[in-house]
Amino acid sequence: MGLLTIDQEKCTKDGICVSECPRLIIRMQEGDGYPEMVPGGEETCMLCGHCVAVCPHGALSHANVPLEDCPPIEKELTVNHEQAAQFLRSRRSIRFYQDKPVEKAKIQRLIEIARYAPTGSNTQLVEWLVFTDKAKIKELAGLAVDWMREVLKKDPQAAGAPYVPLVVAAWDAGYDAVLRNAPALVAAIAPEEARNGLVDLTISLSYLELAAPSLGLGTCWAGLLQHPLLTYRPLKEAMGLPDGYPYHYPMMLGYPKFKYLRLPERKLPKITWR
Ligand SMILES: Cc1cc2nc3c(=O)[nH]c(=O)nc-3n(C[C@H](O)[C@H](O)[C@H](O)COP(=O)(O)O)c2cc1C
Repeated sequence: MGLLTIDQEKCTKDGICVSECPRLIIRMQEGDGYPEMVPGGEETCMLCGHCVAVCPHGALSHANVPLEDCPPIEKELTVNHEQAAQFLRSRRSIRFYQDKPVEKAKIQRLIEIARYAPTGSNTQLVEWLVFTDKAKIKELAGLAVDWMREVLKKDPQAAGAPYVPLVVAAWDAGYDAVLRNAPALVAAIAPEEARNGLVDLTISLSYLELAAPSLGLGTCWAGLLQHPLLTYRPLKEAMGLPDGYPYHYPMMLGYPKFKYLRLPERKLPKITWR
């Protein structure tokens, strides 16, 4: 039996699954005309589930993306244009957090949402490192500051941002401007074989970031940790970043201390219509 199962009572042979398959591996059978996978299609199929999701009759199931695991879209939950525009524009980088731990179940839920982000060829190779111990998070921030001190001594240009000396000075004065005393840190990581690893995990983190406010949480991309993480072994080791995972990005997470009441303006887009 192939990967596809067709419910012949429901299938109307409309050919939508054939037209829609991104890998062009579904065809209509000769004779009875039901859809089938072309010979060898199993190796090419990227398990995207489009064939299951697009069938208006619920007639098609895929061995690896079974119909019963693909719930129908609930129309009442669809957002309109205004809602989508305000929702996206109101996302903010949160840098001040309540002194309150983030429940693991909430982080788990956010990662559950983030796993539906697109990945190149649907490889789904993004993995997660999660830190909820404030002492550990502070240790990571401290290692980033150690790296900044070293770089500022040797090659200030390599520090990445002109305000790095201020970050070091803030640390010395008792304020963590690297990870902002965040109660949680998540890092999305991807292995070498993920050809689009950095893009894949960036989109996953964006999903997580956008979903966070619905659980009362806020996030901030931790660029000041990412930069040293690229080269600084002690930080890599302290984070437990496995070898063979060249793609990574950390993100702070916690309950916001402040509420934003306005939507700040941004540059107008530079568009070239050709
Ligand atoms: C890739 C990336 C790295 C960032 N790194 C940091 C960082 O290390 N520290 C920080 O406070 N904000 C960081 N930010 C947040 C930006 O400063 C922020 O997105 C920008 O100022 C716009 O504000 P908004 O996110 O509230 O719209 C980062 C954002 C991105 C996208």
